[in-house]
This record gives sequence, structure tokens and C-alpha cells, in this order.
Amino acid sequence: MKNLNFFEIKSKSKILNDLVSIKDNNDPFVDYFNFDVKFVSPDVINKDPFLCALNKSHRFNAAILRINQNSIYNWHIDDNRGVSVNMLIDGGASHCIFTNEQYAVVNNIQELKYEPKTYYALNVQNYHSVINFEKPRYMFSLEFDEDKNILTFDQLIKEMHG
Ligand SMILES: [Fe+2]
Repeated sequence: MKNLNFFEIKSKSKILNDLVSIKDNNDPFVDYFNFDVKFVSPDVINKDPFLCALNKSHRFNAAILRINQNSIYNWHIDDNRGVSVNMLIDGGASHCIFTNEQYAVVNNIQELKYEPKTYYALNVQNYHSVINFEKPRYMFSLEFDEDKNILTFDQLIKEMHG
């Protein structure tokens, strides 16, 4: 398997409605590494068999990330995370793009088109960018305790393939 940008996880989410409720409740979003976030508690995570099992093998914190309308999250590689697992909760027109090349004036890109209730493992050590248009965009995202030096994208998807 050669430098994939992302990988679709087969187990569909059982907690989308819970996440929508958290997104819409009155608790404020807090500032965390350039994102507005709400953290998601373990009792919600444990309702989802896939996440519950994953959290036992690789402990994580889970959060809802908000990106404002008409904004761009520019090309970057994550500082600490080797891999992330994401699911789109709500949004309007937006694009999440990856390249598995070195950053250059022109790059080939691959778009991650989020399907409903679907988790994706993301290779966040490849360059990626998000451009978001007329509505705020809400993403469910995991941050593993193990950083890029310990848990890589390749290792996680190898474990998932069994
Ligand atoms: Fe990122």
C-alpha cells in the first residue's frame, strides 16, 4: 500500500444524532489549535462499537471542530498527529483535499468526499487543506494519545485490515 491519503472505514457511525445534539446544545465552542471545538465525552463514544473498540487499542480524545463560513484551512501537515479519524457532521459547500506529493507550485490533488455516517482514517502527515463556503462546517475528529512517532496512518489501516 503506497502513500494513501485517506481510507474509508466500513463500520457506519451510530452516534451521528448524538453529535448533532452536542453541536446544537448551548455549551460554547472553545478555542483549540486554531479551531473552535466541543469535546465529546466517553459515554457518547462508547455507544459506537467501532469507536469503543478503537479507543481500547489506541486511546483518543474526540471533538467536534467548527470551521467558519467563507474560510480556508491552508495546506499543512499536522504538527503532532500521524493519523486522524474524521466524520462530517454538518456543512454546506466545502472541499477537503490532499496531495501525497511534496508541496510545490502545482500539485496533483485528491478530494475526500465525505459520505453520511462514514468515518475516514486520514493521513494527516500528507499535505491537506479545507476550503469552506457559505455555512459553518462541523467535523467529528479524533486525536490519539499516541503521536505521529508512535501511531502512523499505515499502522492503523494495517490493523483495521486485520
Ligand atoms: Fe490537519
